[in-house]
Amino acid sequence: MAKKQTQYICQTCGSAYSQWQGQCQDCHEWGTIKQEITEKFTILPTKSKNKPPPIEMHDLQGIGEDPKRYKSQIGELDRVLGGGIVPGSVVLLGGDPGIGKSTLLLQAVAKLSENYKCAYFSGEESVEQIRMRARRLGYQKAKLQLAALSQVERICEFMQTEQAEIIVIDSIQTVYIGQLDNAPGSVAQVRASAHEIIKTAKTKNIALFIVGHVTKDGSLAGPRLLEHMVDAVLYFEGERTHPFRILRGVKNRYATTDEIGVFDMGTQGLQEVLNPSELFLTERQNEATGSAVFAGMEGTRPLLVEVQALVTSSYLPIPRRSVVGYDGARLSMLLAVLERRLKIRFGSYDAYVNIVGGLKLSEPAADLAVAAALLSAIFDVSLPAQAVFFGELGLSGEIRRVQFAELRLREAHKLGFTQAITPPLKDMEVKQISSLPNALKINSIQSLKDLLDYFPRDKLKSLN
Ligand code: TYD
Ligand code: MG
Repeated sequence: MAKKQTQYICQTCGSAYSQWQGQCQDCHEWGTIKQEITEKFTILPTKSKNKPPPIEMHDLQGIGEDPKRYKSQIGELDRVLGGGIVPGSVVLLGGDPGIGKSTLLLQAVAKLSENYKCAYFSGEESVEQIRMRARRLGYQKAKLQLAALSQVERICEFMQTEQAEIIVIDSIQTVYIGQLDNAPGSVAQVRASAHEIIKTAKTKNIALFIVGHVTKDGSLAGPRLLEHMVDAVLYFEGERTHPFRILRGVKNRYATTDEIGVFDMGTQGLQEVLNPSELFLTERQNEATGSAVFAGMEGTRPLLVEVQALVTSSYLPIPRRSVVGYDGARLSMLLAVLERRLKIRFGSYDAYVNIVGGLKLSEPAADLAVAAALLSAIFDVSLPAQAVFFGELGLSGEIRRVQFAELRLREAHKLGFTQAITPPLKDMEVKQISSLPNALKINSIQSLKDLLDYFPRDKLKSLN
């Protein structure tokens, strides 16, 4: 017997409440909670004599092997996707308006159309505008089907009748189902349209890219709503005033999500940045205080980034701790360790940490670089310009080993760095690195105290 029950569901993130409320406690959106009737039921065993659907895994030969993937020939995109596009998969590409989502996908499908049947549907621009953009990007001859289509019924009809392999829907906020009264971009339209489009694409094994705009004030039905419905979610990030763009996977059913893709937006569209370390370090000033270079890893790729710290006298009852691209809780922990183990008081200082180039660091291996930048900032003494740092910091002030030391050191060596301040390394790693021509000078330190060797002794005294 079905039992009816009233629930209040947030239309953005799907959280359920027993009472209506103005703001969702999970996603903090206002006015998104709507009443829904759900039915409770008990499932009884059926009387059917047929064997239920599961089959033995070893019978599935050939199925489930690494799927064939469509290569876009844009290496940065393929890598973030885990080696190309899985046929029949649905990828959501989110990002601020104007960041370059349409440009990226137009470039991708234009290249893909050399080998696969592709279509690009835009509800934002006319076919003429898309053609103009394609011409600017040098793809005017691509065998790509273009349409300014935003009616879901027509899009689904196209998928049913044409044999497309890859389709771009730009954007989910502009498509609509004619039978629904809601405006395009509303939660109901976005949800229903995405559901219909994805369902049809799955039956025809079409790979989909869906563009979703995210705005800071969240006024558009956010792609968060769609995250559960798709196989992969990529975000395209960057400052509009800067040419760098970072493509980041936040969910992927077919690969890990710790790879990033780096692009440079120019007059000819997006160019891949094959050596991002160079890019992230171009504006670095060697003599600056509060700056340290971190030899990091993004997925399988080493990446050098500049960590900046600023420490100033505080005039607030509780000093400010502020981070861009770094974790605030981790900064508080590092400050506590510095204070306790080195007896340097940060209590009367505001501290700021910034990761240059719009990157976000989440690796504990960045601890040593952040600590070095903070010390350089509070002492107002610059670190050796040609040095890189990596290592995890323990609460007792010990420097802990991290993974991929050799890759990090090779990258630093490649970019002409001459020193590395690292945790204790394995003999093998030291041997490999010291066999390189003009090898890096490696200083493996055991404790935070060893970092003080990089600063004049009287500085510490003058602080206390
Ligand atoms: P677009 O792809 O339209 O952004 P989105 O789809 O995310 O809204 O990119 C728009 C911006 O990119 C616009 O400000 C112009 C700039 N742009 C270039 O700088 N070079 C180019 O070759 C192209 C096509 C766009
Ligand atoms: Mg666009």
